[in-house]
Amino acid sequence: MLADKNILLGITGSIAAYKCAILVRLLVKQGANVKVIMTAAAQQFITPLTLSTLSKNPVLTSYADDNGNWNSHVDLGLWADAMLIAPASANTIAKMAHGQSDNLLTATYLSARCPVIVSPAMDLDMYQHPSTLNNIERLRSYGNLIIPATYGELASGLVGEGRMAEPEDIIHFLDNQVFNTKHEKLAGKKVLISAGPTQEPIDPVRYISNHSTGKMGFALAQQLLNLGATVTLIKGPTSQNPTFNGSINIIEVGTAAEMYTAAIQEFAGKDITIMAAAVADYTPAEVADKKIKKEGQDIELHMVKTQDILAELGRNKAKGQLLVGFALETNDEEKNAKAKLKKKNLDLIVLNSLGDEGAGFGHNTNKVTLIDNKGTKKQFELKSKTAVAIDIINAIVEQL
Ligand code: CTP
Repeated sequence: MLADKNILLGITGSIAAYKCAILVRLLVKQGANVKVIMTAAAQQFITPLTLSTLSKNPVLTSYADDNGNWNSHVDLGLWADAMLIAPASANTIAKMAHGQSDNLLTATYLSARCPVIVSPAMDLDMYQHPSTLNNIERLRSYGNLIIPATYGELASGLVGEGRMAEPEDIIHFLDNQVFNTKHEKLAGKKVLISAGPTQEPIDPVRYISNHSTGKMGFALAQQLLNLGATVTLIKGPTSQNPTFNGSINIIEVGTAAEMYTAAIQEFAGKDITIMAAAVADYTPAEVADKKIKKEGQDIELHMVKTQDILAELGRNKAKGQLLVGFALETNDEEKNAKAKLKKKNLDLIVLNSLGDEGAGFGHNTNKVTLIDNKGTKKQFELKSKTAVAIDIINAIVEQL
């Protein structure tokens, strides 16, 4: 999608600027024409020479070049098919939100008529500060697209959200969300997503659960929000407290039975439903009303089957409703996934195998195989859950 596209990359003052060497390299490899604008602060992190060599174009740092020629921000803004600001520092985001244009980058931003994509990078407290959050929200209200910062270790040594998205993910975003016209089909679509585990109580202090963190479902929710879908998220009790860019309806549930009730209630009228939750298959037959005391040598817990939510949704599916399930397998993966697709009347199943390193519960990455109801199978490499979410969305769009 990026071949022959004119990409204007604005780089601001953040340690993540070092990733721009790879970003520019990837853009050029995809056939894009790349011009780079750097702020003064950006040049303290990476040299213009590195980026002019990789982009095969002079790097622009001020309104005039060394020979006294004017670098027209208006011409640059008109040249670009997309303007990407990566990394976008808190300072530049604030300037963009308020229309300040005291350097070539921000003046060009105000002149650009093309889609503008902002990939923030900063330390976690700066990223969480209400003023930054408000500024990002403002940029979104201007129609700019935001690639949320990711979670991980930051240059300060703190751990949290604030890392610039990886160059591969930025390319994926441009490919799929800026230049992929097929995704327009998702605007206004009503989507229901379940994510996370369920907790089945044994007594007032104990429960049975699983290792699901909900990350895959949250990534799907965020990507669908970015594409203009209206998203309802049924969220099981996870240790993660996800933050979303954009407005989302979150329904918190605890047990499989609660998730069942919420899903059945919400299902009608949804265009797309994705069951990414790891629902308990069995629940204690009785919940003790007092803490079970440590008495005998053994204890027996009688468990009964929960309702299969996805299968019930499959039975009630109306024409035009698209239903997506997950299958987490440890053996006979493909055979089991195909059987679930058929039995639960699904349109698409996302298979992940616990045998694959870096895939499944808790990781920020996943490795999936997608199988649709016509038997088409697509296998993907290990990639970030954000990139996996986009692959899943692409497969959904093909069926719309
Ligand atoms: N699922 C569900 N309700 C359940 C159990 C599972 O809706 N009570 C959904 C999951 O959200 C997932 C799909 O069914 O989308 C497959 O879940 P999985 O645990 O892999 O399969 P099961 O059908 O539970 O079969 P098994 O545990 O025997 O593999």
